[in-house]
Parts: sequence; C-alpha cells; structure tokens
Amino acid sequence: MNTDRPDKSAAVRIQKAVFPVGGLGTRFLPATKAIPKEMLPVVDKPLIQYAVDEAYAAGIREMIFITGRHKRAIGDHYDAAFELEYELERGNKTELLQLVHAIKPDDMDCVFIRQPRPLGLGHAVLCAERVVGNDPFAVLLADDLMVSPSGGPSVLQQMVSSFESRPGIVLAVQDVPHEHTRRYGVVDVRGVGDRVAEVFGMVEKPAPEVAPSNLAVAGRYILTPSVFDSIRRQPRGAGGEIQLTDGIAALIGMEKVYAFRYEGTRYDCGSKEGFLQATIDLALANPELCETVRAHMRAALS
Ligand code: G1P
Repeated sequence: MNTDRPDKSAAVRIQKAVFPVGGLGTRFLPATKAIPKEMLPVVDKPLIQYAVDEAYAAGIREMIFITGRHKRAIGDHYDAAFELEYELERGNKTELLQLVHAIKPDDMDCVFIRQPRPLGLGHAVLCAERVVGNDPFAVLLADDLMVSPSGGPSVLQQMVSSFESRPGIVLAVQDVPHEHTRRYGVVDVRGVGDRVAEVFGMVEKPAPEVAPSNLAVAGRYILTPSVFDSIRRQPRGAGGEIQLTDGIAALIGMEKVYAFRYEGTRYDCGSKEGFLQATIDLALANPELCETVRAHMRAALS
C-alpha cells in the first residue's frame, strides 16, 4: 500500500474522456466491413455507448472520439436524429424518445478528431492532445465492456475516486492467466494495497516467459498531459505500432503511476468469446429478457 500523502493541490477533476475508435476491427469481419466494431450492439446498446455512459456516470461531460475511416456511424449515433425524433414524437412514443435523447444528454459535448492513419493506440491518444490541453483526462477502450457490481460505482468512477485521493496516472488492472500476457500491457507493481499499487515497470504484450507479472492493463486509464510528449518520444513498439504503454512506461520514476484493481467484470468484446459472454450475461441481467433467454438456454443445452 502506498502511504504517500495525497497532493491536494494537484487534485483536479477529470472532465474529458478520450475514446480511440479508429481501429479496423478485423477480428470481427465480416460484421465490421462497413460498420465500426464500436457500433456492434450488446443486447440493445452499441459498445461505444456503454463506454460513454460509463464516463458520464464518472462525472465527465466532454467526450473526445478519435475516429478513422468508416466511423461515421459513431458520429451519427451522437448527433440529433431529426426525422426519427419527429416520428417518435408524432406517434407519442415517449419512452423510445427518451431512450434516443438519453444517448447524448444536453450537458454532454462530443468532439470528433480524425486519426489520419491507424498507427497505434499511443498515436490515437496523441491525436487528442490539442483538445485535451493541460489537464488529466481519461481514456476508455470501448471494446473492453466493463460491468460494475449492481448499484455500485462504474469502473471509471472508481478510478476517478482513487485519482482524487492519490493524483497520478491510474491504470485499471486485472489478473489474467499467465499464458495470456501477450494480449495486454502488463505491469510490475510493488506494495500492493487493498486496490491500489504503485507501478515500477510496464511492458506491452510480453511473452509469458518475460512478463513481469500476470497483472494486465484493462482498457481504462486516467492519464496526465505529460503523456503526450512522452508518446511522441517513443519509437514504434509491439506490433510496429506507437504504443500508449511505452509512453506511460517512460514516465515511471518521473510521475506516480498507480495500478488500480477495479471492482467489476471486464468483457473483451474485441473477441467473439468475450462479446458472446457479455451478450449472455447482460441479457440475463435484463428483466425483460431474462426469462426467455433462460428458457432458451435450458432448451438449447438439454
Ligand atoms: C490495448 C493496450 C493494452 C491493454 C489492452 C486492454 O491493447 O495496448 O496495453 O492491455 O488494450 O484491452 P489492444 O487490445 O488494443 O491490442
């Protein structure tokens, strides 16, 4: 457990969230040929909306999307849909109208930045530099769908609270099977406390033989603006891409970097298995669907 005194002067509110959504989604072809993977729905909401709702629940009101080619649907999802709203209003479909309005509450701002080439997650985050400015900010990867215990704070909200008492970079982490380290950024931590530990090393997609631990970074970050310069200084890393992990790793020793074991479940919706698990679990958690889904699963498995 780190016992450093919180530095109150540095405790600023997290007001902006960055959503890197420029990836090609090749793991989900052919579904993602013409629609972004972030628009794939789990039950009735696209993946991106789960992430944006999570950020909103954490008090964030400025959403910054780093988009690429074929990502217009995300912009449309967060835009007004005049004809649809008009028709719903005319038909007195108040509940549906509320659902549509709730996608983008009036106090939410959306900014879209085009990543010219998909050069990696670090590069995508760097594209947000001018809009983020000089304040700490959050990054959410929409294909990691996070479900927190019912009634509890969202995963990002938990991280924001941790940041408020211990300012610095905060990385959501979870234990993964050792043979899976190659899929993640993996951290080396010391002094593991209840949920927070200080990070002393970090490496992107290490082979199990060289992985510093089996504590992997999930797709939620709170970053400080110094990460931008740091990313800029990095050569291409794992997979020939400009890696966010490398930018953060280079700041260790100069800034506090914390690993935060969140409370909740992460579904890797970038994989078919994770996507199906999320769909089943969220359908079972949905009061309107759970009976039908239960009955169907019983029949399908018998
Ligand atoms: C990215 C990050 C990795 C992190 C992972 C979480 O990898 O580079 O450090 O552990 O997200 O989902 P990607 O899944 O984009 O390959």
